[in-house]
Amino acid sequence: MAYDLIIQNIKELILPKSVDRPLKGKELDELTVIQNGTVVVDDGKIVYSGPYTEDYEAKEVIDASNRVVSPALVDAHTHLIHGGSREHEMALKRQGKSYLEILESGGGILSTVEATRQATEDELFAKAEHALLTMVHHGVLAVESKSGYGLDKENELKQLRISNRLAEKYGLTMRHTFLGPHAVPKEATSNAAFLQEMIDLLPEVKGLADFADIFCETGVFTIEESQRYMEAAKAQGFKVKIHADEIDPLGGLGLAIDEEAISADHLVASSEEDKAKLNHSNTVAVLLPGTTFYLGKESYADARGMLDHNGAIAIATDYNPGSCVTNNLQMVMAIAALKLKLSPNEIWNAVTVNAAKAIDVDAGTINPGDQANIVIWHAPNHEYVPYHYGVNHVEKVIQKGRVIVDRHLGLL
Ligand code: NIG
Ligand code: FE
Repeated sequence: MAYDLIIQNIKELILPKSVDRPLKGKELDELTVIQNGTVVVDDGKIVYSGPYTEDYEAKEVIDASNRVVSPALVDAHTHLIHGGSREHEMALKRQGKSYLEILESGGGILSTVEATRQATEDELFAKAEHALLTMVHHGVLAVESKSGYGLDKENELKQLRISNRLAEKYGLTMRHTFLGPHAVPKEATSNAAFLQEMIDLLPEVKGLADFADIFCETGVFTIEESQRYMEAAKAQGFKVKIHADEIDPLGGLGLAIDEEAISADHLVASSEEDKAKLNHSNTVAVLLPGTTFYLGKESYADARGMLDHNGAIAIATDYNPGSCVTNNLQMVMAIAALKLKLSPNEIWNAVTVNAAKAIDVDAGTINPGDQANIVIWHAPNHEYVPYHYGVNHVEKVIQKGRVIVDRHLGLL
């Protein structure tokens, strides 16, 4: 019998483990890397992935000599859909203004809210589509996408509709997150009143969003407000997420664990006590070191400490127009290696299987029976990708067994 596709002579085949919960602590450093591997695909699914074999025949054979093959990556935290851009903030930063100072003076998130409200649905769709396809070209086939730049019913729904339309148009694995409480808009009478407005919106966004998220931070939403929102969202059947301890140590990680959030994201300033609670939790700590880099902070999330506490961690871009302006997850893998002191094995698990757990998708592994969502890397080994930073090492992206990106570097 002839199968659809064989990828043969793979120099290194990266096989994260299929698990029904996120990998935790020391498990993150366990990764099967096969020298001289073979992958067999039929009908969009993996039939075989393992050591070299000639037992299979196929209609198409791709030679992956001197190449690395891995599951397609998962970007578990993005603000994909937004209007405008904020390059003018670079000058404010040069003058020494902090992220929260820019937000307080009506800039930052609030200026993107303005641009997002003003953009038509088609304009926003086209902008997000370009960003999403750039991610795909960088090896990502599963993406979480948040609203949070509408801050009113009409514009939050507009963002979520676009997110759903994008997933459908490209058959991508996507999860959509309602982040209504992302900032307090100018027209709000009080934080509490605005939060209630967003809570009241939950039933309406239910058909368009999988998760509910909130920005718990000084000057934005408090721990008590975050808890109120998370409990209201859970009562409506949402799984919950939180932007926690990004700048100030408010205790968002502890709250997320108590509320059994699917993930707690950022965690740069989380307390020792909260990190220790990761031991008995499957809440995934989604670390966003590209944001710490972009905000110019000295101290990064304590990834090593979280792993020592047997925590589950994932790595994502946080792609957004203010605090992390990159949709290149490979770049963030390099920052994770340098600044979070993670090993290559830990990083590959953190952008595949654990990232998939953080957004509740079946992705990040290429074991028999899995969807054949695969990347062929122009790299000699798996340590190379986080090492050679800032450029795209993808050679081919294969979606459900079909080559959808082929970066043949010839010149026109
Ligand atoms: O995850 N921290 C809150 N939200 C985003 C930034 C959004 C923005 O600056 O536009 C983040 O960093
Ligand atoms: Fe974010």
